[in-house]
Amino acid sequence: MSGPIVVDSVAALRAQLRDWRREGQRIAMVPTMGALHDGHISLVRIALERAERCVVSIFVNPTQFAPTEDLDKYPRQLAHDLDRLREAGAHLAFTPGVAEMYPAGFATKISVGGPSSGLETDFRPSFFDGVATVVAKLFLQAAPDCAIFGEKDYQQLCVVRQLCRDLDLPVEIIGAPTVRDTRGLAMSSRNAYLSETELAVARQLNVVLRQTAAALAAGADEASATGDAAEALVRAGFRKVDYVAAREAVTLAPWRRDRAGRLLAAAWLGTTRLIDNVEISRG
Ligand code: PAF
Repeated sequence: MSGPIVVDSVAALRAQLRDWRREGQRIAMVPTMGALHDGHISLVRIALERAERCVVSIFVNPTQFAPTEDLDKYPRQLAHDLDRLREAGAHLAFTPGVAEMYPAGFATKISVGGPSSGLETDFRPSFFDGVATVVAKLFLQAAPDCAIFGEKDYQQLCVVRQLCRDLDLPVEIIGAPTVRDTRGLAMSSRNAYLSETELAVARQLNVVLRQTAAALAAGADEASATGDAAEALVRAGFRKVDYVAAREAVTLAPWRRDRAGRLLAAAWLGTTRLIDNVEISRG
C-alpha cells in the first residue's frame, strides 16, 4: 500500500483538496501533533468511515505551549508517523513548519470563552488560545467536512465545538472514545516520558476516576468525593494533583445531577502531567 501524500504548504494542501472536492469526495480531518499512537489511529479509522478522504495534520503547535512546558522535548517522529498513516490508510499528511503556520508578522489570536474556563485554563492559561487559533487555521486551510477529536482531551473537544459554533465554521466535530491500554491507561504521546514504575502509577488515574464517578452517580457528596479522589491519587504515587472536578458534560459548567456529567482530572507524575476523564452516569 502506498503512503499518504505528504504536503507541507497551505497552497499544496488546498490544491490537492480542491481536486478531491471537485470529484465530489467528502474530506475528514484529524488534527494531531504527531508521535502517533493507537489513539490517533482510531481517529483515522473513524475519519475513513465518515469520508472518502482522510487528511491528518502533524504540527507541534508552539502557541499552545507555555515557556515552561515541554515544546522542545515533545516527541517528533515523522517517519514513524507516516508509516502508521500508511498502514491505517490515511490519504494525506499535512506537515507544515512553524514558518508556514505562523509567518513573520503573525499577530492574531482566537480566544474561546465558555467551556475553556477553569480546569486546564487554571493551570495552562494560554493553552486553549493556542489550540483554538491553530485549529481555526487548519479548518480554514483544509475546509474539511468533518474533523475527529479524541475524548481524552475532553475540554479541548468542547472548546473546538464552541469555536465552530461561534465562528460558523462549517465543520462537523466528531468526538471519539478514548483508547486505553489493557489496564486502562489512556493513550497519550506523553506516556513516552514515563518509566515502567511510573506507568504502573499512571494506570491508577483511570481507576480512581471510575471509582469516583460511580460514587457520584450513587449520590456521594461532590466536594468530598473529588477531594478523596485527589488524596487517593497522591497515595498512589502522583506528585501533585492539579484538579479532580465534576462538570456538566456539554458546557463544562458546574455539574448538576440531572444533567449528563463528566469527571475530569489532571495530575503530575514526576515531571509528566497526565489528564483523563470519564462519564458520570445519571444516577
Ligand atoms: O490534541 C492535539 O494534539 C492538539 O491540541 C491539536 C488539536 C492537534 C492542536 O494542536
